[in-house]
Amino acid sequence: MNHPARPGEAAPDSPCVPVPPTPADHLDLARTTQRGPLPDFLPTGDSVADVVPVVAPTGDHIWLVTGFGLGRKVLTDDRFSRAAAVAPTAPAIHPFRPDPAALTSLDPPQHTRLRRLVNRSFTPQAVARLEDGIRHTARRLLAGRTRIDLVAQYAMPLSAMTICRVLGVPEADHARFAGLADRALGITTGIFEEQSLARDALRDYIRDLITEARRRPGGHMLGSLATAHDESGALSHQELTALVELLLNAGYETSVGQLGLAVVALLDHPEQWRLLATAAHPERASSAAVEEMLRYAPVVPMSFSRVARQDLVLGTVRIRAGEAVVVSLLHAGFDPRTHPDASRLDVTRPHARHLTFGHGAHTCLGAQLARTQLRVALEELAAAAPGLTPRVPLPSLRWRRPEAVVRGPVALPVTLSGDASGTRTG
Ligand code: HEM
Repeated sequence: MNHPARPGEAAPDSPCVPVPPTPADHLDLARTTQRGPLPDFLPTGDSVADVVPVVAPTGDHIWLVTGFGLGRKVLTDDRFSRAAAVAPTAPAIHPFRPDPAALTSLDPPQHTRLRRLVNRSFTPQAVARLEDGIRHTARRLLAGRTRIDLVAQYAMPLSAMTICRVLGVPEADHARFAGLADRALGITTGIFEEQSLARDALRDYIRDLITEARRRPGGHMLGSLATAHDESGALSHQELTALVELLLNAGYETSVGQLGLAVVALLDHPEQWRLLATAAHPERASSAAVEEMLRYAPVVPMSFSRVARQDLVLGTVRIRAGEAVVVSLLHAGFDPRTHPDASRLDVTRPHARHLTFGHGAHTCLGAQLARTQLRVALEELAAAAPGLTPRVPLPSLRWRRPEAVVRGPVALPVTLSGDASGTRTG
């Protein structure tokens, strides 16, 4: 594949139409309401177009789609390819290349087949069966405490327990597994190395899990994935290994980061926390709040990249075959055409619309699980600590590196207080 031209450098025959600004400065709104660093290449300014050229940390030139409607369109448009985007010569945001065998790296029909097999293990019923365990763990983690680091002592063990139950990791191995995953993914260290000993050890462990699941499938998702098959046969060992690694990468650190970001935003808006903590119908309140938190503080600010298979026009911009496009999931949630008061955090918002789980064929497989986990974690936290307060000023929180795929605070020390009139720090 040829190296794509720089976005904005139109081909001689290209009608690179002047780009009109969006009605409001929604990119600025998104940035100024966010706590925590964002990648430098996300554009700022008073007027920003729906599609803008950016230079990624790799030095590659990429089109960034910022509008909600156009973002949704890109994510469902089969003129864009994920498989082409993981090719070694494709423009990339991050220096590391995803596994080409992973579900996220496939196009139809390979993606359709694998996704159909995997969907069977992620049914709403399968997720509902996990809810009691998540609640029980959340309660246990908070019980008897007045101070807690909500990242290391709440979000991480809760997400580790959840993903372990999904994968069928034996109870006795949960702590070991969580430690390996933390080091491999660099959650609390904030350091991610593609080739690390922890990553190798985790891969070995995953291989053992798969071997065991093939021998004794049990009632968990890994068991059903290990035995899943269709008319073209079962999942191959490579497909299954790539899938389990993906579930861990995509499912663990996202859930940790999303809970951290949600709580930071709520601590930043104590009146919103009080609304949630004192709601007459906690479950109804937290379901609406979850969608608003996903919109307002999305843990994954950008989609994976897609590469155009052909020359095409996106909005008012001509994209050439081989060029890469990324949807800013963060900015899609702040599009003033979708939410006129997008910069306001409102946990009672009836229909918070967002692209935080993506859209279309690659839409997040674990969305239902992630929603359940976030809802239960917030419900239990609100029940245990209606007067939740940060123990450090919010501006001095430490964060994961801005260029990481997944955002989130590295630590979130709070006081768990039963007094809902608690005050704000920082
Ligand atoms: C708040 C938490 C989460 C967020 C914000 C999130 C976000 C996303 C997004 C944006 C995508 C699509 C990316 C794209 O198309 O460019 C995605 C895909 C995916 N997610 Fe999640 N995710 C979360 C949790 C989870 C969990 C808990 C699991 C599983 C246990 C999971 C498994 C996956 C998988 C397997 C895919 C790939 C689907 C495909 O390519 O067909 N995610 N996620």
